Formats: sequence, structure tokens, C-alpha cells
Amino acid sequence: MSVTTSPASEPQAVPARLATPPVTTARTADESQEVGANVDPHLVCLLEPSSEHAESYYRLRYGLEKRRVEDSALVVGVTSPSPGDGKTLTGINLAGALAKDSGARVLLLDLDLRRGGDGVSEYLDMRSKQERGIVDWIRETDGDETPHTHFLRRFNLHVVTAGSNPELPYELLKSSRLDELVRRARREFDFVIIDAPQILDLPDTELIARLVDGFLIVVKADRTRQRRLEEALNLMTEDKVLGLVFNAVAGQEQ
Ligand SMILES: Nc1ncnc2c1ncn2[C@@H]1O[C@H](COP(=O)(O)OP(=O)(O)OP(=O)(O)O)[C@@H](O)[C@H]1O
Ligand SMILES: [Mg+2]
Repeated sequence: MSVTTSPASEPQAVPARLATPPVTTARTADESQEVGANVDPHLVCLLEPSSEHAESYYRLRYGLEKRRVEDSALVVGVTSPSPGDGKTLTGINLAGALAKDSGARVLLLDLDLRRGGDGVSEYLDMRSKQERGIVDWIRETDGDETPHTHFLRRFNLHVVTAGSNPELPYELLKSSRLDELVRRARREFDFVIIDAPQILDLPDTELIARLVDGFLIVVKADRTRQRRLEEALNLMTEDKVLGLVFNAVAGQEQ
């Protein structure tokens, strides 16, 4: 497989500072023994970080490290015009590439709430953890201050799963608890990678836009129609588009 990037705008020349030691929230659990035995084989940055397939994700990592400003996480949404373009695969591989720096604090946050256990949790073999996800936490307004954060030590990666399938994803994504969570994550992490839903036909990603510094927009080669991409880009303000990721370029799929 191959991913190539075509940045929509030049990244700011701001050096990343990733040397600070990992900070974990009180509710972060080390689940290195329980999770990840059957990680999806397409997650090359987790399973074969030195492979040729993983290289293109390191290019993405480099672009984000340059963009990050000191003392705050860079919060990046990974989205695409339509379902199935490769958002989740790209987002997890990118988070994995960033987390190869042992000093980096990386959070993968699943906000594709409608997919429940079929998104990040399935790729990372974490379906058994679904009930402790972001949906459940937003609903428990008198519950803990932060959602349960799983720490996958093997990959140096913190993960908040989506949780139970919500009846009203719009209401949940509008919740001020989510704003508070991302504000807190900006202080505790270097990078927050958000698995977002598709842009078209749903309001979700437009709601998520307020939380992120920008989006990477995944375009699946030979699949995403140009008109769909144009419609999707029209729904984004230019400053929120960090770049396009060309996924699964012909002959180079994983
Ligand atoms: N580069 C790739 N090489 C091979 N298979 C890929 C690649 N990218 C995506 N796929 C496959 O395409 C399918 C969709 O990928 P993925 O789940 O990442 O897409 P998505 O955009 O997150 O989908 P959804 O909108 O349903 O959440 C999966 O079966 C995945 O394995
Ligand atoms: Mg997905």
C-alpha cells in the first residue's frame, strides 16, 4: 500500500518538542497484555514499522511534527469525503508512526461514533473494551472527569474508544464535555489523532471541526470521485485542511 501526501498549504516551520516524558491521566490503564494480539495486518506502523509500506506514514508524521507548537498537542482529524476511503487505517497508522518516538505522547480518539465496535476498536482488537468509550462517558454527566484511556504500551499509544452505538450522535458531538476533553488532552499529549466520520451526508465532521487544528482528508485512489472531493472541500474552511492523503495508490496496496 502507499500513501502520498499533497499538502493543501505549506506547513508552518515550527519545530516539534517531543522530549517531555509521557504523562498519563489517573484513569489511564496499562493494557499491553490484554490488547493487540489480533491487530489488523494493515496497521503497518504498529506491526512492521521499518517496512517500506510504513515509510509514507513517516512522511505524514514529519509534516505534523513541523506544525506542532510548543506546550500544546496538535489535534488532527482524519476524514474523507465518503465511507470506506481508508480514514481509520490511515489515522491509526499515523498515530503509530508518531508514537514510535518514545518521548511522544500520542492519543488516538475515536469520534466516528456511529460505527461502534467496527472502527478503531476492531482494528486494534479492542472490541471487548467498547463499553468504556467516549459515548458512555459523555452520557454519564455526573461521572469521571475523563473517559477511560487505554494505554497500549506495546505501541506507546493511548486510545479512547467510541463506545456504545449512540442514538443521537449529533447531540453527543455537540456536547461541551467533548470540548473540555480536548482542552485537557491538549495539555497532556503532544498529538491527538481523531478518527472522524465521512464529510458528506453527515453533520458529524463539521461539528468535530471546532475541536481540531486541522483535518487530513483521505482520498482513495480510483474510488473517490472528484465531484465528491470538491463537495467535501467546500464544506471545510481552508485553514482547517492540513492536506490530502492519497491512499491505496494502484499497485501499491498493502
Ligand atoms: N491502503 C490500503 N491498502 C489495502 N486496503 C486498504 C487500504 N486502505 C483501506 N483499505 C481497506 O479498505 C477498507 C476501508 O478502510 P477503513 O476502514 O480504513 O476506511 P474508513 O474510511 O475508515 O471507512 P468507514 O467510513 O467505514 O469508517 C478496509 O477493508 C481496509 O482494510
Ligand atoms: Mg473508519
